[in-house]
Amino acid sequence: MYDNWEQLEESIKNCKKCRLCQNRNNIVLGEGNKSTKLMFIGEGPGADEDIQGRPFVGKAGKLMNMAFETVGIDREKVYITNIVKCRPPSNRNPENDEAMACLDYLRNQVILIKPEIIVLLGSVALKNILGQEYGITASRGKWIEKKGIFYMPTWHPAALLRDETKKIDFIKDLKEVVEKMKN
Ligand code: URA
Ligand code: SF4
Repeated sequence: MYDNWEQLEESIKNCKKCRLCQNRNNIVLGEGNKSTKLMFIGEGPGADEDIQGRPFVGKAGKLMNMAFETVGIDREKVYITNIVKCRPPSNRNPENDEAMACLDYLRNQVILIKPEIIVLLGSVALKNILGQEYGITASRGKWIEKKGIFYMPTWHPAALLRDETKKIDFIKDLKEVVEKMKN
């Protein structure tokens, strides 16, 4: 664990801890406000993210930006990252060993940011952060407190592209988050 961003960023450059290093163009560490109270964790970079080296800049990201606007979240004031920092081939889910290999970076990011609230975007984020026993359908929209951090599991923005009705849940969950931020 590093106690500063410079060393953490240096340590991830050229990372070859898992097989996802083989096909990536860029490592997507994350972006945003490093002294925020509110963090978002997705699954892993897609094609657009891999090319640009930034999280949630493709279709799902655009949808997330629109939802942020709707509920009044300023993207620049939060921090956004993923479970794995390199793109899984053809956007498959990260394998368990890949997620495990990468999780140290995320833990370090959380330690440096010290968020009060973490939004878990989809099943991969939920299971890797809170445990495999959690399911997204049962857990979404419900606060879970662990070690002083409040977690809000919700749908992954890409799921909203496939199922319009999930947009309503997603906006509802984000509104919950905005309300809690006021307390
Ligand atoms: N999907 C994710 O889970 N993360 C991204 O950064 C982009 C799409
Ligand atoms: Fe390293 Fe994570 Fe990329 Fe795997 S996904 S190579 S652990 S940075």
